[in-house]
Amino acid sequence: MTPETFWLPAAKSTVAQEVDSLYMFMVWGSLVLFVLIMGAAGYWLVKHRRRPGDEDKLSKPTIHSTAVEVFWSVGPLLVCIGLFHWGVVSYMNMRVAPGDSVQVQVRARKWAWEFEYANGKITNELYAPVNKPVRLVMTSADVIHSFYVPDFRVKQDVLPGRYSTLWFQATEAGTYQVFCTEYCGQSHSDMLSKVVVLPQAEFDAKVNEDDTKGVPLAELGKKVYEGKACNACHSIDGSAKAGPTFKGLWGKSETLADGSSVKVDENYIRESILNPNAKVVKGFQPVMPTFQGSLKDRHIEGFIEFLKAQK
Ligand code: CUA
Repeated sequence: MTPETFWLPAAKSTVAQEVDSLYMFMVWGSLVLFVLIMGAAGYWLVKHRRRPGDEDKLSKPTIHSTAVEVFWSVGPLLVCIGLFHWGVVSYMNMRVAPGDSVQVQVRARKWAWEFEYANGKITNELYAPVNKPVRLVMTSADVIHSFYVPDFRVKQDVLPGRYSTLWFQATEAGTYQVFCTEYCGQSHSDMLSKVVVLPQAEFDAKVNEDDTKGVPLAELGKKVYEGKACNACHSIDGSAKAGPTFKGLWGKSETLADGSSVKVDENYIRESILNPNAKVVKGFQPVMPTFQGSLKDRHIEGFIEFLKAQK
């Protein structure tokens, strides 16, 4: 695996080496050709510049050279065919996941990532076993996002209404940065996560652990608030964001777009999490995505307790 360089972070997946080799070949190849061609052009420009007394030579045209023309046509063609072959083989390698891959569902939503494993466990960071292929089946609850792990050299758009897939095999345990690389609105640049690569036994333990058990409700609610990126649109200090602030929200009577009013209680909060656009507060846009299927009842109850505490 290549170490970190001036250009790229250290390569930490099985496909990263190949991506780097192809990339570096093209960068250095282009640089060498650029210097050679520009150097030759410059040299001849000076060497054959017009001098006094050259006028009589101007009528003599340069004779066509078939050999040179074949060389400069066939040479680059062969290089391009070689590059194409190299690219196709690498691309197919990166697109087709091995049959024994661990499958993880990925849901993108403004502005957080969510990962669901075979047993139904949901996390906000992606856990993956080391030296095992992991296949991500990704979809978006709202707009187009893009899943990108620079250390693995993998990136794939995540679309609403359809699945896109991506696979990787991490070669070293560790924590790797995840970015969203498709502009998806105000907090796009905060749409971050991590891939936590663990030895198989630790991965199994992590995926099977019930991390809601024994956690006080309000604390669980705080995790939901941060982990599901509610904080991107709802402040707890009263400052204005895309959605109503949570400060002092509990127990308030809110006026809706149609002029009717609703009291902020358990049922209104629950409805607003599962069916956010049913009762939108006057002055706000119906833009919140649903959290149906991604929060368990205990999470919602925890969130309600957290909200009550925001006085
Ligand atoms: Cu999600 Cu940018």
